[in-house]
Amino acid sequence: MPELISSLLEWANWLVEDYRGRPLSPLQLKLLQGILMGHDYRKIYRLIQEDPDPALFINSVNTLQRSTAYQLWNLLSGALQHAGFLQPNQRVSKHNVKAYLERSQQKQAVLRCSAVDQAELHLAATSGIKIDFLGDCIRWVGREQELEYLSQKLTNCRLLALVGISGIGKTSLAARLAIALDTESRFSRIASVRFEKKDSNFLNLAQAILGSHCVNENLAASETLLERVMSNLRETPQCFILDMVEEAFEIASGNSPTLDPWIYRFLDEFVRTRDTQSLIIVTSQLKLPVFAEGRYTDRTYEYKLKGLSAKDAFDLFTAWGIQDTTEPESRHILQQCIHTYEGHPLALKVIAGDILNEPFIGNIQAYWHDYGAEIEYFQQWMAETSKNQQSYPKLDAYSLDLAELVQKRIQRSLDQLEKTAPLAHQLLCMGATYRQAVERQAWLCLMTESSTEALNTAFQVLQRRFLLEPERTSSRILYRLHNLIRCTALARLKTWKHGKNR
Ligand SMILES: Nc1ncnc2c1ncn2[C@@H]1O[C@H](COP(=O)(O)OP(=O)(O)OP(=O)(O)O)[C@@H](O)[C@H]1O
Ligand SMILES: [Mg+2]
Repeated sequence: MPELISSLLEWANWLVEDYRGRPLSPLQLKLLQGILMGHDYRKIYRLIQEDPDPALFINSVNTLQRSTAYQLWNLLSGALQHAGFLQPNQRVSKHNVKAYLERSQQKQAVLRCSAVDQAELHLAATSGIKIDFLGDCIRWVGREQELEYLSQKLTNCRLLALVGISGIGKTSLAARLAIALDTESRFSRIASVRFEKKDSNFLNLAQAILGSHCVNENLAASETLLERVMSNLRETPQCFILDMVEEAFEIASGNSPTLDPWIYRFLDEFVRTRDTQSLIIVTSQLKLPVFAEGRYTDRTYEYKLKGLSAKDAFDLFTAWGIQDTTEPESRHILQQCIHTYEGHPLALKVIAGDILNEPFIGNIQAYWHDYGAEIEYFQQWMAETSKNQQSYPKLDAYSLDLAELVQKRIQRSLDQLEKTAPLAHQLLCMGATYRQAVERQAWLCLMTESSTEALNTAFQVLQRRFLLEPERTSSRILYRLHNLIRCTALARLKTWKHGKNR
């Protein structure tokens, strides 16, 4: 196949995957390849028949043209519009597909050139949830009961809120759930919209749902826009993960947090609306208000997410490469960690990263020698705090204490990193200035005064310590820090810079 055609196919696949969370099917790819090579439907049908791949079965040239091709042009139109390369009134057909793909690919290349300092701007608010992203980059374990229970709940309900403290696993579970529910391609699109404080408004959400070119920049949140978004969700079954919705809450001192009024309206309307096959999964650290005056309780469900079970946590330690999880003394130590941090996946991940790296290099007992007393002390502190929880005027006292404990663990882990790998620590603190996931190269550009070799090693240290969250697109892997680690690292960056300036 000529290089240009394979590059256009790859580009089309990337666009589609980014749009609906799944790449093109083998049959769609074969059809697109034929069209890009200038073949007519008859010739493409003949080529498909000659191909022994069973995934390419099609019963007639008519079906290929009327059904497969029709769907493909619809899909590519949607994907190109969504990525902002096509106006809503422009449509892809066999006559223009090559030109549209070539032009959009060139535009994208221009955007990428200045990607390093502008990385935040170029990464869209929405991203498709990649099945292999979860299977590959994240060592997902367990939560089988939760998955089964929530899948069951979602047969009727259309708005699910996963609520819990930072790092407990809400986003990961939401993504897994969306994929588990997408049996027989139930949704034409699965996408995630991460809320950021600076633009957590309804307009951004509408843009993510309708595609950036469908929403005029000067347009304000309005009933008309709300209706457009609703009819889009009614007409096409889609699954949206609204991630980190706590960012859309206004927290005025002395009052309880209030959800942005338009996001409230949107969710309320979504609960009320009739005949929609779409689904919304919200992740939030704060409890959502009750929608539709509590009338449609069968359509909404709130699930308070807790940490992993001891079994899942042990499986995860093994998956992270911790040896000796069955040896009694080591098992006891890990058990203590799981118990103290209540199976909090991010805390356990940080602990695993510490155990596996300098100076412990996999020796669980050596880790315990240095940190055991402190962890035991924390365990006691937790027990006492939960006894006195009435005296804490907090939303969810129990969880918030755990949140504090996890933060302390992260601080200690970063202290260790600073001691054993100072450059990696600096890189982490500098990388915290990126809000979104960026390419490895963008990380390495942050510290121009160090040699490439030293920076490569520092980057690997961060990877080995599981401090980077990889995000996979079909053509590249991007890295970001988990929100909790990012906040801690940003605070350290301030102290570090302050110290340097003195
Ligand atoms: N079941 C699991 N298996 C493996 N890793 C997991 C699992 N659940 C969570 N993790 C990991 O734990 C970390 C925290 O998970 P996640 O980001 O989903 O938490 P969160 O509750 O969404 O946090 P936040 O509220 O800050 O967004 C991530 O690194 C994730 O990969
Ligand atoms: Mg999250």
